[in-house]
Amino acid sequence: MKLAVAILISGSGSNMVKLVKSMDDEHPAFPSVVISSRSDAPGLKKAQDLGVPTEVIDAHYFKKNHLDFEKELIQTLKFYNVEIICLAGFMKILSKKFIDNFRDRILNIHPSLLPKYRGLNTHARAIEANDPIAGCSVHLVTPELDGGPILAQSEVLIKKNETEKSLASKVLLEEHVLYPKVLLNFSNQIRKKEL
Ligand code: GAR
Repeated sequence: MKLAVAILISGSGSNMVKLVKSMDDEHPAFPSVVISSRSDAPGLKKAQDLGVPTEVIDAHYFKKNHLDFEKELIQTLKFYNVEIICLAGFMKILSKKFIDNFRDRILNIHPSLLPKYRGLNTHARAIEANDPIAGCSVHLVTPELDGGPILAQSEVLIKKNETEKSLASKVLLEEHVLYPKVLLNFSNQIRKKEL
């Protein structure tokens, strides 16, 4: 039996597309559902076009009660028997209680070379600091924001006159290669542990 993967998005979903496409016949996992925290996320249509079931859990609707948002999220993940969660541009912070429900089963891609630049505006901060390199990291999600064990990273050079936008596009291309690789290794490891 293949491992069921949920991909959580809030926006464009370009990483989600790469993850879905990477899960071919030989892959130990399959994309069981794409869940968006926004009803207007462009990634939703991309997932539908790829034939992956989609769900919207509208964070705006649950604005005043994050716990209810997470309850709904957990119910949906259980409905799809999800075994691995990939956060891919999912812009909601998850509570310790939620994370404990899926201990060591949640991956996130972050657009910086962690532990540098947790949180937002990572590219602007790297340029501002005159860093020679930037990049992306895939890490396990723990209650510490962007602070879980790093599984893999990819680097890009920051050129003279680099803008936030040009750096973001370069890093995104690296994300598209890195995240599917990490998901494949991670799924294989889980498979081995289960045997
Ligand atoms: C990606 O760059 C991802 O690393 C970042 O959002 C973008 C989503 O793009 N994630 C975060 O900043 C999470 N803190 P995508 O929707 O096209 O995959």
